[in-house]
Amino acid sequence: MERETAVVSPAEMKRQAAFIREIRDLPHRPDTYFIVTYGCQMNAHDSEKLAGMLEEMGMRPAPRREEADFVLFNTCCIRDNAERKALGNITWLREVRKSRPQMIIAVCGCMIQEPGMAEKILKQYRFVNLAFGTASIHRFPELMLQTLESGGNTVVVDQEDVIPEGLPVRRMRKEFAYLTIMYGCDNFCSYCIVPYVRGRERSREPEAILREAEALVEGGTKEIMLLGQNVNSYGKGPGGISFAQLLRQLDGMGIPRIRFMTSHPKDLSDELIDVMSASRHILPQFHLPVQSGNNRILEAMNRHYTRERYLDRVARLRQAVPGIGLSTDIIVGFPGETEAEFQDTMSLVREVRYDSAFTFIYSPRVGTRAAKMPEQIPQEVSSRRIEELIALQEALQQETLKRFLGCEEEILVEGLSRRSDTAVSGKGGHGISTTFDGTAEDIGKIVRVRITGIKNNTLTAERMDEKNA
Ligand code: SAH
Ligand code: SF4
Ligand code: F3S
Repeated sequence: MERETAVVSPAEMKRQAAFIREIRDLPHRPDTYFIVTYGCQMNAHDSEKLAGMLEEMGMRPAPRREEADFVLFNTCCIRDNAERKALGNITWLREVRKSRPQMIIAVCGCMIQEPGMAEKILKQYRFVNLAFGTASIHRFPELMLQTLESGGNTVVVDQEDVIPEGLPVRRMRKEFAYLTIMYGCDNFCSYCIVPYVRGRERSREPEAILREAEALVEGGTKEIMLLGQNVNSYGKGPGGISFAQLLRQLDGMGIPRIRFMTSHPKDLSDELIDVMSASRHILPQFHLPVQSGNNRILEAMNRHYTRERYLDRVARLRQAVPGIGLSTDIIVGFPGETEAEFQDTMSLVREVRYDSAFTFIYSPRVGTRAAKMPEQIPQEVSSRRIEELIALQEALQQETLKRFLGCEEEILVEGLSRRSDTAVSGKGGHGISTTFDGTAEDIGKIVRVRITGIKNNTLTAERMDEKNA
């Protein structure tokens, strides 16, 4: 059966490439750029693609946003504070521009795709020169040219759910690469705005993914992180292959290390667990957002699993991949959450013993179902709950991380440690940050270490031999 495809046509991609060349040859185009990125890995990778296009337009990165000719804010709107932070920083830059009138201010990303935001930008943020949503990323060259020619206020919010293939990418790290396998989300968890701002779920063709992976391996990439809002629903629809099948193929390609994120517990299949258990290159790490430990709340969140089913998945994962690193996302203060229901989340955390947890206070997002629910929880109640949860997680984490003491690990070094220039940090297979003695020379290498201690929820280690795989 012929599969429906949302891939942007090659003719359209060529048209955009022509705009890139036209901008490069403009006498008055901006020379330098700076991208400010908020939000998740999806946005981080989109920024790499936007940087790729800007470089092809002949522009170079500026060291600081205040010094750039073109500043692009790639925004997030998952919670109210993410949005407020972006809007605050955009407004601040307007002041800076008073002494640098050539500066162009652009805003893109999820926030622009929010209902009503385009109008808001046109009215309250008229000083923004260009705004475009997540569905228009491949049209950035065309919109940029329009902005440069008009000098005005271009705001574009496309609604079509597309898959742009073949965009240039300027990766932040050479040895580590994000690789998007699917876009959008169809789950409509009742609190979440992502399905509204990232559109319907659509998977890339397996051939396109495998080709990109092959090119990355040839270019020396040591670790690939597969990206999607719900990677294990990859390939749904007629003629598609499952996420587990895709992983199996990638595992056989000689990519040294493979991670993926994020997985939805309702779609975590036995097939996927089996592939992980048999794999040579898929790292023993799993991010499995639980959100709540209470069945009534899970149902109100539209998560489609129960506490029992979640615990069963965790048990299977641990059995199939011994020592696996487990992390999660948790929301407290969902509308109507009682103290007893919150305590169910606490007991689940005690039961699972995660290696790390991202904890959030529920934030109502306009247009979502939960925002209209009665019984919104007062801020002081949610604040107290999150503090209690964080304290529990930190105490447990000190204990769970002890299982790594004395173990050997291979760490892909990300950079110098934030606390010292004679130490480096990176992640081992389990995905936990690990710090040990080293220099800038180690960045991008895989170093064998022995774990010696636990410090502030991360691991410390000493070097063994060096393996520059
Ligand atoms: N697609 C991923 C997560 C995307 S958002 C997944 O389903 O796991 C990352 C996390 O933000 C979510 O897991 C959730 O814990 C949190 N989150 C999303 N919407 C939120 C809201 N309205 N208020 C508070 N936290 C939210
Ligand atoms: Fe949001 Fe749920 Fe989709 Fe994750 S699965 S992006 S939480 S709607
Ligand atoms: Fe934020 Fe958009 Fe990611 S809302 S969390 S940047 S998908």
